[in-house]
Amino acid sequence: MRHFLSLKDFSSDELLEMITLAQEIKAQTKAKNFVPHLKKQTLGMIFEKSSTRTRVSFETGIYQLGGVGLFLSANDIQLGRGEPMKDTARVISRMVDMVMIRTFEQSKLEEFAHYSKVPVINGLTDSYHPVQIMTDYLTMLEFGIENPIVAYVGDGNNITHSWLMLAAKLGFELRVATPKGYECDPAIVAEALSFAQASGAKITFGNDPKIAVAGANVVTTDTWVSMGQEDEKEIRLKAFDGYMVDANLMALAQEGAIFLHCLPAYRDYEVSEEIFELHAEEIFSEAENRLHAQKGIMVWLDQHRED
Ligand code: CP
Ligand code: NVA
Repeated sequence: MRHFLSLKDFSSDELLEMITLAQEIKAQTKAKNFVPHLKKQTLGMIFEKSSTRTRVSFETGIYQLGGVGLFLSANDIQLGRGEPMKDTARVISRMVDMVMIRTFEQSKLEEFAHYSKVPVINGLTDSYHPVQIMTDYLTMLEFGIENPIVAYVGDGNNITHSWLMLAAKLGFELRVATPKGYECDPAIVAEALSFAQASGAKITFGNDPKIAVAGANVVTTDTWVSMGQEDEKEIRLKAFDGYMVDANLMALAQEGAIFLHCLPAYRDYEVSEEIFELHAEEIFSEAENRLHAQKGIMVWLDQHRED
């Protein structure tokens, strides 16, 4: 049985199989042909952090596949009152067919998966947001980006770490520009660079957004204050001064470059209102694709229960 905890656990072929499934199921969905790939299956969805897209896309996605989603807010289940993760895992995974978790430490997700009898999906941790980056890849393909040169400008966070793993696995170019002191986790960087050696991915790091964006065909960013970092807001907003993706920065990218944002976006902080609205079609296609990419991932995991 396979879990979807980080992209690092998959080969490039496996990741591309999930994307192909997502494309096929998206085409079926668009034709109103709701094939019950996961008929009568229940997806438990545990949330220890807020969500709009992840909740709606997983709940709608499993329903469209013939199953049902159970929204389990940590505040409402005994986990929030101190029941151990490993007990929660052993109870819930005897009743449902798949579990999605949004939590803080990656180790909590790994603990759940260790004790789970069913596949577990990472719906965001402090370290990674892999379903989001699979979605971003699907969106890039739809916008005709075949040889990605991706510039990520901003915080070295869960989104950046997932970009690192995707680029490293699939072998494309990724340039990361972060302020000093807000770089990616060195252990994750080292792991990604070891995969990059095998795939031929070109991954570079720096502190200058202009160098990262020059000639890129995909520009992306994320909030400067992730969930759980609210206390650092003031100091972070100062540290990220000069890192906004605005028209001057976008002008350095390739003509026709797309702009992606996982959302929620904070206008005139990590992205200017002007650039956000100019690229709204890409951004909201990306948001919609959460629904489709995750269906591909869930169906793939279901097909590999015996692995
Ligand atoms: N991008 C994303 O995961 O959004 P939510 O926090 O709304 O789920
Ligand atoms: N880095 C952000 C992503 C939100 C989808 C966070 O963790 O809050």
